[in-house]
Amino acid sequence: MSSTDSRYTIVGARPEQQAAIDVLASQFLLTDERLGAIIKEFRRRMEEGLAADGKVLKMIPSYVTRRPLGSEVGSYFAIDLGGTNLRVLKVTLDGRGGVTSEHQKFALTEEAKNRTLFDFVAQCVDTFLDERNLRPSGQQPPIPMGLTFSYPVQQTSINSGTLVQWTKGLNVPGCVGRDVVRLLQDALLRLGLRVKIVALVNDTVGTLLSAAYNDPAAQMGIIFGTGTNAAYYENVANLAKWKGPNPSSGEMVLNMEWGAFDSDDFAFLPFTPHDIKLDRKSINPRKQAYEKMISGMYLGEIARNIALWLADQRLLLDGRSSEILNAMWSVDTAYLSSGAVDTSPDLSEIQQVIEKTLNISNSTFVDRQIFKVIAILVGERAARLSAVGVVATLTKRADLLNKPVTVGIDGSMYEHYPYFHDILVETALHFIPQEQFKNIKFTLAKDGSGVGAAITAMLAATYDS
Ligand code: BGC
Repeated sequence: MSSTDSRYTIVGARPEQQAAIDVLASQFLLTDERLGAIIKEFRRRMEEGLAADGKVLKMIPSYVTRRPLGSEVGSYFAIDLGGTNLRVLKVTLDGRGGVTSEHQKFALTEEAKNRTLFDFVAQCVDTFLDERNLRPSGQQPPIPMGLTFSYPVQQTSINSGTLVQWTKGLNVPGCVGRDVVRLLQDALLRLGLRVKIVALVNDTVGTLLSAAYNDPAAQMGIIFGTGTNAAYYENVANLAKWKGPNPSSGEMVLNMEWGAFDSDDFAFLPFTPHDIKLDRKSINPRKQAYEKMISGMYLGEIARNIALWLADQRLLLDGRSSEILNAMWSVDTAYLSSGAVDTSPDLSEIQQVIEKTLNISNSTFVDRQIFKVIAILVGERAARLSAVGVVATLTKRADLLNKPVTVGIDGSMYEHYPYFHDILVETALHFIPQEQFKNIKFTLAKDGSGVGAAITAMLAATYDS
């Protein structure tokens, strides 16, 4: 990508419109040199997080020290609490690396997101068990369940851990610093529900384990969705801060919490005024800087900030706006996905979004082209930056790259954003030699986070805790 990329030439634009687009294109440009410096810093931050607690990259020990073999059989339950939805699942392992799952999805209500989260979760578990006639009676043993919790948690065992902070728009008071399993267990108790949480995993850890169930080469699990993060197997010998017993496997899955990269000094990522504006107005300013440039929760908002910046200079929509465009978080990242690949002669897809969704009439062809450029710039920068974490982590475990390595990835950005995968791979190839790169397999670990929690519940039964 270069600022002279012909895709950024707006047919029929006034000179001042084109000049503003050129400014944007140069702000969003990421040269290999710049990316290389960011990768180097990312690696340094990883090392720092392996050595001590309280660093920007938390590199949290997950207490998962085993790998599934793929030959395990049985049915296991899990709760998958993400940024938007909650799923309760019954996962059946077939012993040949395959799984089937039955799940029920519940949208998180605003009340749950801001107040009653754990009671809401307990209620959904109750509904799931009740509708399937599975609710244990007083005489029966509690049902063991795995919990996927997609927020930063400092784990204290395979089934306990304290919440470090909320991310991705959740903001339930009274939870930070407390054991999230205890909070859920108490809510389950209030309902008299005989369920025991036996495993607590981050969604990236779950994604890795679900990939590992059918592929022994799985080493890394990534989420590119509402938020972003990754987990990978690290040699415990490299984890200087680990004070626990040495696992017999010699390895441990680490939850990197990579979304926080560069949050302390904002020194390496390509911050534009539009990113800074988003950060200031977010519920977690100066936190999750990397996540805010990459993930679905934020890209629509960056695009909205850019559109308003242009409109306020009368360079877009003749200076007009609407109540919707003026409202924070009103632009869904999904509109960027469709806008970036609108190839219709009059950009009718984008026209629909401007007119129907944003409620602004009479957009010109120039306006629509500008919207398309915004979508491309924001989305492609995200995809290129996503390669930073991938490259830094895989080259950190360079010992792995001489044999097949599988990276399980889940999340809406990876699954739906046009060319996200291709741009990630193309960017990573600039930093990993081709002969090693050919050993890497990126696979979509669809719904991996929930399946992984069930697998961890299965593994936890063999841990002596
Ligand atoms: C959270 C991580 C999570 C990621 C992906 C981030 O906001 O901090 O724990 O893995 O989102 O869901």
